Amino acid sequence: MVEEIAKISINKVSDSRLPNVDWDNLPFGKVFSDHMFTMDYFDGQWQNPEIVPYGDISMSPATSVLHYGQSCFEGMKAHKDNEGNVLLFRVNDNIKRLNISATRMCMPEVPEDVFLEALKSLLNLDRGWVPSMDGYSLYIRPFLIATDPYVGIRPSVTYKFMIFTCPVGAYYSSAVPVKIETEYSRAVRGGTGYAKAAGNYAAALYPAKLGQDQGFTQLIWTDAKEHKYIEESGTMNIIFKIDGKLLSPMSGDTILDGITKRSVLDIARSWGMQVEERKITVQEIITAFENGSMEEAFGAGTAATIAPINRIHFNGQDYLLPNAGENDFSLKILNHLNNYKKGVVADEFGWINSI
Ligand code: PLP
Ligand code: COI
Repeated sequence: MVEEIAKISINKVSDSRLPNVDWDNLPFGKVFSDHMFTMDYFDGQWQNPEIVPYGDISMSPATSVLHYGQSCFEGMKAHKDNEGNVLLFRVNDNIKRLNISATRMCMPEVPEDVFLEALKSLLNLDRGWVPSMDGYSLYIRPFLIATDPYVGIRPSVTYKFMIFTCPVGAYYSSAVPVKIETEYSRAVRGGTGYAKAAGNYAAALYPAKLGQDQGFTQLIWTDAKEHKYIEESGTMNIIFKIDGKLLSPMSGDTILDGITKRSVLDIARSWGMQVEERKITVQEIITAFENGSMEEAFGAGTAATIAPINRIHFNGQDYLLPNAGENDFSLKILNHLNNYKKGVVADEFGWINSI
């Protein structure tokens, strides 16, 4: 595949759309950079790597991904440092996770070197789209879809891998109220919860909408068997600060192994904080509210960054958290992570790739 990388064909836009971007009104995920990467899998190998102007793709109405959801994706971000270098945060972890998802969805892996080279070429071409202003970044969306025009059920024998990017600001603009979900389930043991599979998100839309109709931005999912243990949210992992200690449900086959969460916990440990990743019961969370030891709750995710939670609803009751103040861990870690991603603080964990 290394020879393939050398052959990425590049077809540049004649006129960049960059001057038309309204940075003051930038909706998340709706503004797309000039170029995208595409590559096809057929005859048992990845072929035709290309960078082309961002645009529609055409496919047969029988394309299997449209019917059976054989699809997975990733989400990562690029930032710019003060010298104008484009910095990727923990890109190798995202690449590995895409392949974990691909295997679970019965799809071919994308060779890591090809993925990285494709991404670097794309970002090099669209480096003008990587924002340098505070609070902004370039969101990167790699994805893999089954492309056989075939109505029967079997793994596709053809696939498409693509990467496009969007300049973005905040995903959540204020603290989020959440509801602990005890009726619907997102993931079951032996299922696809740990994969970033498109179908996981589709299946979560209806319960999430019911929650939104009641005023909750997100759900906190619980285990499907007993609805007794906290799992994660629909767009982010969950971290609590109780009695000075960070607590988060341990990753397993029902929870996406979030890179932001892992980063938060690694940094917290390096700061000497106590961190526990383990099974956490809903009751434990409620008890922490009742005895006054619950200090903070927040989500951690690439799009969401660090999203403080201001209200947790469970069993007809609201449990309130104060809006994050400047001494809160969530704000401290948000600022530290932002600085880390922008190269303002030293890359002590070796998480940054510079382009
Ligand atoms: N959980 C779910 C369901 C997500 O969609 C995301 C976002 O990617 C996360 C957790 C956080 O993962 P990461 O920090 O790797 O973005
Ligand atoms: C991400 O954080 O990258 C995700 O995939 C979550 C999605 C809601 C944008």
